[in-house]
Parts: sequence; structure tokens; C-alpha cells
Amino acid sequence: MDTAEKIILFCFLLQGVCCRDFNITLPQKIEALNGSCVIIKCRFEIREIFDKDLTERATGLWLKDGINVNNNLVFNSSTSSQKSFMKGNITGKLKDKDCTTVFHDFRSDHSGQYYFRIEGEGELKWTYTETSASIHVVDSPPRPTVQLYVEQKEVQDQEEVLEGRSVSLRCSAETLCSSPPPTLTWSSTPRIPLSESSRLEELISDLNFTATHRQHRVTFTCTITYQLQDETKTAQDNITLHVQYAPKISPSSSCTRTDVTVCFCEADGNPSPELEWHLSGRPVTNSSNTFISEERLSSTGLRSSITLHQSLTHTSTLQCVSNNTHGNASQLFQLPSSVARLNLFSVMTGVVVGLVVVLLCAITCICVRKEDGKLSQTKQEGAKRSDQTKVVPQKNKDDSVYVM
Ligand SMILES: *[C@@H]1O[C@H](CO)[C@@H](O)[C@H](O)[C@H]1NC(C)=O
Ligand SMILES: *[C@@H]1O[C@H](CO)[C@@H](O)[C@H](O)[C@H]1NC(C)=O
Ligand SMILES: *[C@@H]1O[C@H](CO)[C@@H](O)[C@H](O)[C@H]1NC(C)=O
Ligand SMILES: *[C@@H]1O[C@H](CO)[C@@H](O)[C@H](O)[C@H]1NC(C)=O
Ligand SMILES: *[C@@H]1O[C@H](CO)[C@@H](O)[C@H](O)[C@H]1NC(C)=O
Ligand SMILES: *[C@@H]1O[C@H](CO)[C@@H](O)[C@H](O)[C@H]1NC(C)=O
Ligand SMILES: *[C@@H]1O[C@H](CO)[C@@H](O)[C@H](O)[C@H]1NC(C)=O
Ligand SMILES: *[C@@H]1O[C@H](CO)[C@@H](O)[C@H](O)[C@H]1NC(C)=O
Ligand SMILES: *[C@@H]1O[C@H](CO)[C@@H](O)[C@H](O)[C@H]1NC(C)=O
Repeated sequence: MDTAEKIILFCFLLQGVCCRDFNITLPQKIEALNGSCVIIKCRFEIREIFDKDLTERATGLWLKDGINVNNNLVFNSSTSSQKSFMKGNITGKLKDKDCTTVFHDFRSDHSGQYYFRIEGEGELKWTYTETSASIHVVDSPPRPTVQLYVEQKEVQDQEEVLEGRSVSLRCSAETLCSSPPPTLTWSSTPRIPLSESSRLEELISDLNFTATHRQHRVTFTCTITYQLQDETKTAQDNITLHVQYAPKISPSSSCTRTDVTVCFCEADGNPSPELEWHLSGRPVTNSSNTFISEERLSSTGLRSSITLHQSLTHTSTLQCVSNNTHGNASQLFQLPSSVARLNLFSVMTGVVVGLVVVLLCAITCICVRKEDGKLSQTKQEGAKRSDQTKVVPQKNKDDSVYVM
């Protein structure tokens, strides 16, 4: 270290330790809600020789729109707040050079340029004329900002999210002084539990969830609410999510048969999916035998119907296959032409077989019983009438079996 450097260092230390002067740090601009409070963050410095005058009994004063103590004084920390123009309190400790001040019930006529003055014991009396705070009443509070994070990374400009990704919507708002303090709330169609954190002059609320197709085109709105004495003031921001997802085939997709087989298939996906029909594993195209028509239901929905004129064997399978850039989905259809007829046939066969069995049993029973009776009769009446015994059951109208 040479002499020049030593001198520079010495001067630097001298300036820092022994050459303190009057100085103040104030925010240049402060906004206040009409009728609400104002916090002025304030720190001041005094010339070193006045340090002994800055005691517990020091007085903090505020001058408005001028530096004349007689004309512009609006607040005196040693005077009861009730009598002064401004209602408030110096919350900082003046002895520690903290002049942070709270003004209550700040109205439009309080708007202006504010200068701080310190009065201590002895000779310490100083108005900081170089720096002042401009305080103004605003009609509406500052708007919050909603920011989208996907997998912890901030997403700018676009709101496209892939289904299954973890999404975090962060609402942050600069806050104005208010009692009670403002709150942040989320409103959106699906309710998602929210985690809230708050810092001193900024409120933050995170909405964390896993993206699903249900959040596609859902608008999430974050609202900051100030509960003031005579009214409620709000400001909001919103974000609309666009979720990309693989196609899903609607469970309502089905087949019907009249004289031809008609099947409907409905797929939903983002980007909008494509749809194909496969008959026994082979893609089907428009032809004289098969007619395919497609209809866009929305920006994500597609409905296709296929009409099959050709005869189908019961081994034929029909499949609806849908895809987009994110995946595939398919559904296999039961073809009513082969399946339902087969079922009807087996049911009918079962019923008929059952009836026949019952009928045969009944006939056998009756015949045996009648045969037994007639046998004794014929024995008495003689062999001549034995030819007629076979037709007796037909003549007997009381026998329930024959009512059918
Ligand atoms: C007063 O303080 C500010 C920042 O605290 C500083 O930039 C400025 O130089 C100081 N002025 C004097 C005269 O010390
Ligand atoms: C503030 O409130 C007072 C009384 O409620 C009203 O007279 C005045 O117009 C309001 N000022 C603004 C800027 O809204
Ligand atoms: C502030 O109030 C105190 C106590 O009422 C009084 O002694 C002092 O003179 C006042 N200061 C000014 C600048 O009016
Ligand atoms: C002013 O603020 C101080 C510190 O927060 C508190 O102790 C005191 O009671 C307040 N005075 C008034 C009049 O509100
Ligand atoms: C929500 O997500 C953000 C950012 O991804 C994270 O910092 C925060 O801790 C999460 N909150 C909860 C409750 O999981
Ligand atoms: C979302 O915010 C914009 C302004 O940023 C507004 O024009 C729009 O109406 C809001 N939409 C909803 C649904 O709140
Ligand atoms: C099949 O042909 C009809 C009429 O020719 C047409 O309306 C329909 O869009 C076609 N379907 C497909 C999938 O190309
Ligand atoms: C869907 O599948 C068909 C046939 O496999 C293919 O030609 C087409 O490019 C696919 N579409 C998309 C969007 O992946
Ligand atoms: C869709 O299916 C085709 C063929 O079956 C396959 O090659 C492709 O990887 C699938 N795409 C996705 C995104 O799953």
C-alpha cells in the first residue's frame, strides 16, 4: 500500500466517522386509498455535533406543501393527535433516527408534498428541505399480478400446459396501508385449496395443482380486497389456462342397428384429435358399403359416425381409434348385428326347449293318469272302446295343459 492509497483510505474513514451531516431517506411517491392509512418509511441523519441533543424527548414534525414552520406544520409528535390537521403517530424511535410515520384517515385534501423536521433538546432544530415525500390519494388500489409456473419454471406470454404437469399460479400484489390489511382470493370454476404467504408490503398467494383437461380454458382470477370504512375496494388480474391432452373417447360412444349398423364415436383432445375406424383391424374408408361422417363439436371435440351396409360376420370387430400429438385412444365396439341376434336366438331357443320339456312332462303325466283310470274302465266296459281312449284328452276341456 503506497502513501496515496493510505491517504485515500484515511479520507474515506474520516468521512464515514466524523463528517456526518443532515440527511433523510424517504420514499419519493406514496399512494393512499381515500379514508385509509399511510405509512411513510423514514430514516434521518444529523450532524455529529448534535448527537447529544437527540434524546427520548425529541419531537418529530411534518410540514406540508412548504417549509415554513408556522404556516405549513400539519403534525407535531408532542401534541395530541386530536388537535392537529393530520391524525397519526411516529412509530419509529426518533432517538434511533427512525422517523417512520403512520397517518390515519388520509383524505384527498391531505394529498401533497411532505417535509420532515426534527426538534431535539438544545440547538437541534432542522427541517429536511432537500428531500420530501409526495403522498396522493388514489381511487383504486394497485392491481395484483398473476404469473404461471410450470414445473417450477416461469412461463411467459403463453398459457399452454401439458396435462399432468405441476402448475403453480402465483398472485402477487403490492399493498397499500389499510386496516384491516387487504386479502387475496382466488376465484375459478374448480375449487383448489390455496396456500397463502404474506410479506410486509407484498401479498403472495399460490394456487398449486396438477394440470388436467378439466382446467382447459378455465380462467383463474385473483382479487385483492380492501375493506375500508365506507366501502370495499377491489382490483384483480386473471389468467386463462390452455391444457393440452391426449384424446379421450366418450363412454357414450355406441352402436345401433336398424336395417344397417350405425356407430358413433366421440373423442376429445387438445390439439383437436383425428379419428379413424378399424373394421377387423383394417382402416375403413368412405365407400359404397361404408359411410363415414365427421363433425367438430368444439375446438377439442370430434364426433364421427360410421354406417355399415355390408353384412357382418359375428367375428367382425369395429374399433374407433383417435390420436393427436400427445397420444392415442381406442374403443372396441360390440357389433349388434352379430351379437344381439345371437343372444336373441339363444334366449328364444332356451324358452322353446323349456316349454317343450314342460309340455312333454305334462302330457306324459296326464296320459299316464288317464290311461290308468281308463284301463280299469275298459276292463269293465270291454275291449270295443279301447280305440277311443287315445282321443279322450282332446275332448277334456277342463285340462289346463291344453288351454295353451
Ligand atoms: C444522503 O443519503 C443518500 C442515501 O441514503 C445518499 O445517496 C446521499 O449521498 C446522502 N447525502 C448526503 C449529503 O450525505
Ligand atoms: C374521498 O372521500 C371524501 C369523503 O368520503 C370525498 O368527499 C372525496 O371526494 C373522496 N376523494 C376521492 C379522490 O375519491
Ligand atoms: C410541538 O408541540 C410541543 C408540545 O405541545 C410544543 O412545545 C412545540 O413548540 C411544538 N412545536 C412546534 C414547531 O410547533
Ligand atoms: C404510537 O405508536 C407507538 C409504537 O407503535 C405506540 O406505542 C403508541 O401507543 C402509539 N400512540 C398512539 C397515540 O397511537
Ligand atoms: C407452490 O408452488 C410454488 C412454486 O412452484 C412453491 O414455491 C410453493 O412452495 C408451493 N406451495 C405449496 C403449498 O406446495
Ligand atoms: C381478465 O382480465 C382482463 C384484463 O386484464 C379483462 O379484460 C377480462 O375481462 C378479465 N376476464 C375475466 C373473465 O375476468
Ligand atoms: C364421406 O363421403 C361423404 C359424401 O361423399 C362426405 O360428406 C363425408 O365427409 C366423407 N367422410 C369422410 C370422413 O371423408
Ligand atoms: C394419427 O395417426 C395417423 C395414423 O397412424 C397418422 O397418420 C397421423 O399423423 C397421426 N396424427 C397425429 C396428430 O399424430
Ligand atoms: C400412437 O400409436 C402409434 C401406433 O399405434 C404409436 O407408434 C405411437 O407412439 C403412439 N403415440 C403416442 C403419443 O402414444
